[in-house]
Amino acid sequence: MLPDPTTAPALKTVLSTKYGKPDFHVGVAIESDSITGVPSLLLKKHFNAITAENAMKPDTIWPNASPATNPPTARATPNFGPADELVTFATNNGIEVRAHTLLWHQTVPTWLIQGNQSTANNYRADVAQHMQNYIETVMGHFPDVYAWDVVNEAASDDPGSADGFRTDSPWYIAYSFGGKDGREYVRDAFYFATLKRTAMNRVNDMALMLNDYNTELPGKRANVIKIVQYILADSGRGTMIDGVGHQLHLQVGADASQVTAALQAVEALGLINHITELDVSLYADPGTCFSGRTIPPCLADYGASPPQSALSLQATTYRALFNAFDRTSVKSVTTWGLADNHTWLNSWPVNRTNRPLLFDTSLYPKWAFWTVVDPAIVVP
Ligand code: XIL
Repeated sequence: MLPDPTTAPALKTVLSTKYGKPDFHVGVAIESDSITGVPSLLLKKHFNAITAENAMKPDTIWPNASPATNPPTARATPNFGPADELVTFATNNGIEVRAHTLLWHQTVPTWLIQGNQSTANNYRADVAQHMQNYIETVMGHFPDVYAWDVVNEAASDDPGSADGFRTDSPWYIAYSFGGKDGREYVRDAFYFATLKRTAMNRVNDMALMLNDYNTELPGKRANVIKIVQYILADSGRGTMIDGVGHQLHLQVGADASQVTAALQAVEALGLINHITELDVSLYADPGTCFSGRTIPPCLADYGASPPQSALSLQATTYRALFNAFDRTSVKSVTTWGLADNHTWLNSWPVNRTNRPLLFDTSLYPKWAFWTVVDPAIVVP
């Protein structure tokens, strides 16, 4: 039987003690449904940091003008409302904010990459100017966040990629215009973020991060590391990067030693690690599931009552992961959702019931929670 939920210790306290870090960030990605009522009580008990699951992404923060203009250079006003609501909740409750994300290939409002294409140089100057305006304005609006994902998912999934970069990003494509080097968008993003952070006097307490998924896979990890080295090599003009955000969208049975290898690869460059989007899917899907996005090859839906065997394996997987996070270089762990009643994995990679978090659909602690907070707990 699961332990009595009223005896559950605060996750943030347990982890801070376990890791010996008084200032450790235990974060959770949320939308506005988590800042009132019972969810907000659960959040305040267990977490000391939040990330906006969607509210700080470019398509929310600064979409195209509406109705659309052609060309879409007439920018809409920034839409800080949804993010401000979350930040206000955090501020009022002594909770810190991890900011996600300045640039992401999946959400690029077209005004950002609009420009005068008469020459390669003119176009590059226009796009870089839009990027700088965006980064300065958005960073300036959230002066107190402890980290920014400056670029999200820049790396290629192809283990054989020569330079490590994803080439289907609208940013990469825009920067490639006229034969120029598409990779430079990542350097510019970190350069502009560095300038803004310095101007804001936050050099020592606002980390600038490169965030990506699948860093637990050696081929993808190598690509991410290549990009970090590419950014580091731009130090001549002062460009800085503090570390890597490992999303860690994992599944039951995930190999924690590969997570350790990912953390070590970043440490070897002298940088810090954040765990940014942790969840553990109940389904040990094959890799082909994520390209095809159908059942099969994705595993069949368990429905509303997943088997205990899956929940138990999930719990021991979580335990091994939180043990792997016990390293000096790891400064924060964020789960991608508060409880199983709100998770993106009910629609990714297929529509299917998933239960990937530490708290159940009724907001009670799961076996996964208990294995993390109590090394002596034995799962059924
Ligand atoms: C996801 C959100 O959870 C969904 O609500 C949204 O529809 C799509 O984005 N990697 C990331 C996150 O960096 O921003 C994604 O979040 C999940 C994968």
